[in-house]
Amino acid sequence: MRILMVCLGNICRSPLAEGIMAYHAQIAGLEWEVDSAGTGGWHIGEKPHPLSQKVAKINGIDISHQQSRVFSEKDMLYFDKIFVMDKTNYNAVKSISGASWNPDKVDLLLNLSEPGSDKEVPDPWTEDEEKYHTVFSMIDQACKSFVDRHLAKP
Ligand code: 4NP
Repeated sequence: MRILMVCLGNICRSPLAEGIMAYHAQIAGLEWEVDSAGTGGWHIGEKPHPLSQKVAKINGIDISHQQSRVFSEKDMLYFDKIFVMDKTNYNAVKSISGASWNPDKVDLLLNLSEPGSDKEVPDPWTEDEEKYHTVFSMIDQACKSFVDRHLAKP
């Protein structure tokens, strides 16, 4: 399975989501391809935000190798599942995808842990470390739920 995590800048939330989903998949022995992208290009080529890197590391996950990139129409065709952090990301992915848009592939990430809730992962961009821990925990629950559900399938 190919999974793409999407947020606005691809430096705070989606790099965490990429690292966390890859971590849970690897522990479960699943050979999934996990990547992330942003809908905006302000941080192209940059590593994840220092607080995203720090909080990931505290939880045993290294995301320091990641580099920010922008979501493209090709991503909509290539990936099997695309998880967005908030409704603005959802609308931007839809707009960028143009004719390739496939709503069956796209969902809010937190619908994995709280189905149908349409809750959003808050943007920690200008916040302190505590917010990054909160965001980590939300994303972690969602990714773990997804892997657990996949493993439980007959
Ligand atoms: P992210 O956070 O979408 O979680 O990566 C942001 C990062 C940068 C900006 C906004 C949100 N920015 O405006 O540069």
